[in-house]
Amino acid sequence: MMPTPNLASDQPIVELRHVQRRFVKDRQVIPVIQDVDLSIYRNEILCIVGESGCGKTTTGKMVVGLLEQSDGEILVDGRPRDAYRGKEAAELRRSLQIVHQDPFASLNPSQTIEQILSFPLLRHRMVKDRAQLRRRIWELLTMVDLTPPGDIVNKFPHQLSGGQRQRVSIARALTVNPKLIVADEAVSMVDVSIRIGILKMLHRLRDNLNVAIVFITHDLALAKYFAWEGRIAVMYLGRIVEIGPTPDVIGNPAHPYTKALVAAVPEADPERTRSKQHMPLRSEEIPKLTQIPAGCAFHPRCTFFQPGVCDVELPVLAPAPDGQQLVACTPLTRTGTLTPYEESSVPLTSAGGLVEQTQNKDA
Ligand SMILES: Nc1ncnc2c1ncn2[C@@H]1O[C@H](COP(=O)(O)OP(=O)(O)O)[C@@H](O)[C@H]1O
Ligand code: SF4
Ligand SMILES: [Mg+2]
Repeated sequence: MMPTPNLASDQPIVELRHVQRRFVKDRQVIPVIQDVDLSIYRNEILCIVGESGCGKTTTGKMVVGLLEQSDGEILVDGRPRDAYRGKEAAELRRSLQIVHQDPFASLNPSQTIEQILSFPLLRHRMVKDRAQLRRRIWELLTMVDLTPPGDIVNKFPHQLSGGQRQRVSIARALTVNPKLIVADEAVSMVDVSIRIGILKMLHRLRDNLNVAIVFITHDLALAKYFAWEGRIAVMYLGRIVEIGPTPDVIGNPAHPYTKALVAAVPEADPERTRSKQHMPLRSEEIPKLTQIPAGCAFHPRCTFFQPGVCDVELPVLAPAPDGQQLVACTPLTRTGTLTPYEESSVPLTSAGGLVEQTQNKDA
């Protein structure tokens, strides 16, 4: 097993500094990524989790350079990405790869697996001759457990199972010897029974090839399983609200949103699931990106909401009082503790903001 990166001293492969990303849709500006600071280190496993629409894919695409940031800075190996030119820029693009959720959509249906894998190998001159090309394809297919390769090379994507297609996508990402792979919901469309096999294979690739893996998922149970020896970043509405070593984030979640996500994960043992503390939210509704609540964006849903603080102050990531993670929750990092909000004491508007207590005129 490769050593765990030393986050204090190692140079990140990719570093996002105060990164924002906006999209314009129907003449409306949608601030999808509000402000993300994120470093990814050599050979590490980093999981990005959060509900659908919180900006995970957008973040992943910016990490590999498929999307540009609207604001903020992205450094690769300590240098701003836009300072890379020519050959260096091409090398940088190759070193950061992404595997998408739907392998069917990303593999050319009219090409055989051999053709799909040959293309990047020949284009980037990764092999010298036909014999080497063939050897390399065999090697890649073996690495992703598509064996014997002879049974696979002449097939078309539609002749493979979903899991096999995803393994081909991973093999294709490996053709260019990347140092970081973003796996975006890479097993979400794959049958549950074969997910574990693919996750184990990704772990092995990370160990053997010295590659960092950014694993994006909406499923915290999957994140827990995959990134136990790595880190988890929990995203909510375009921000990271908690980040740290997986055992800390999952075992002792600090942010109320993470607490709710952890409480919702079923345990293998039904008895443990029953005895788990239920963490209700004040609202199931996820606010619109165009109407992000003031202060902490989670405040309309948070059971620890503190009026006058949470709806006013923007929380910043700071060390959690108990654990190695960073958490963006003002009352917690300021006082070291959270107090449950008493719903009846202060009425809420439908948007979650406070309304003034009015005197009963008849009184
Ligand atoms: N190119 C785009 N144009 C407009 N909106 C976009 C675009 N890409 C993503 N979005 C919006 O950004 C939000 C976050 O998207 P995404 O990063 O895909 O979230 P996630 O992967 O967490 O589900 C969604 O509301 C999505 O509709
Ligand atoms: S800042 Fe306030 S509303 Fe936001 S998570 Fe912390 S306690 Fe909840
Ligand atoms: Mg996504």
